[in-house]
Amino acid sequence: MLVLKITLTFVCLCSFGAALPDVFPGCSFMEYFCTARECTSAFYKGLHQDPSADCGKRFESMLTCLKLKIFVCAGRRQMIMIWLTVQIPKIFKKETFCSDANFGIPQNDNVSCSSTYFEKAPLCGKTLRLKFATNRSDASLCSESAKAKKCVKDLLASECTLDAETMEANNLTLSDHNPFCSNNRDPGATGLEVCHDFTNPPYPCLNQNSYSKAPP
Ligand SMILES: *[C@@H]1O[C@H](CO)[C@@H](O)[C@H](O)[C@H]1NC(C)=O
Ligand SMILES: *[C@@H]1O[C@H](CO)[C@@H](O)[C@H](O)[C@H]1NC(C)=O
Ligand SMILES: *[C@@H]1O[C@H](CO)[C@@H](O)[C@H](O)[C@H]1NC(C)=O
Repeated sequence: MLVLKITLTFVCLCSFGAALPDVFPGCSFMEYFCTARECTSAFYKGLHQDPSADCGKRFESMLTCLKLKIFVCAGRRQMIMIWLTVQIPKIFKKETFCSDANFGIPQNDNVSCSSTYFEKAPLCGKTLRLKFATNRSDASLCSESAKAKKCVKDLLASECTLDAETMEANNLTLSDHNPFCSNNRDPGATGLEVCHDFTNPPYPCLNQNSYSKAPP
């Protein structure tokens, strides 16, 4: 569940509170995160580039994409797939992605943050959400999204005491990856993208042979 949640967001107000686990037999955590992120990223990019697109249909395509990637990471094991078929729609909700345009609503996880954090963090994405709702093609969504992430990051740094794993998870979801920018990076981003090593196919986890060899 924790791992699934991580792809939900790029303005992530969640806390994971656990080591980034290689929970899937067929994928490392980073392989899962980076391949699943392609689905959510393509969803936002599609809406950004085509304001007349039907959000519900795009959302369904995103779910199909996620299921495919997650099933492969799960080694296509029947029990895990049955469980995932139930869990995926609970975690990835159409309202969150389409109506709320919430970019990852604050999760109710218990994080060690001050009340200031809980008060201010939801406001970080306010302008972004408003602009997205007004005009999905708005070119300023690129910089607005970067601003929202910086706002959450600054709050996390000043108002929270996080363990290393939670910080790492937050660093991943709040990285400079940005589907609203033409180059998919925040303006002025330098250095390697966090998924740099995991976005060039063939993904080890998408290779039938590698997951069939995974231990039971
Ligand atoms: C959150 O964690 C703190 C400290 O671990 C605990 O006292 C509190 O009851 C928890 N709150 C919730 C809503 O779980
Ligand atoms: C939405 O934003 C795009 C890009 O900034 C612009 O070209 C377009 O005119 C805007 N549409 C509306 C309805 O404001
Ligand atoms: C997360 O990012 C912060 C700020 O960029 C950095 O100081 C910290 O070392 C990073 N932590 C982890 C665990 O990656």
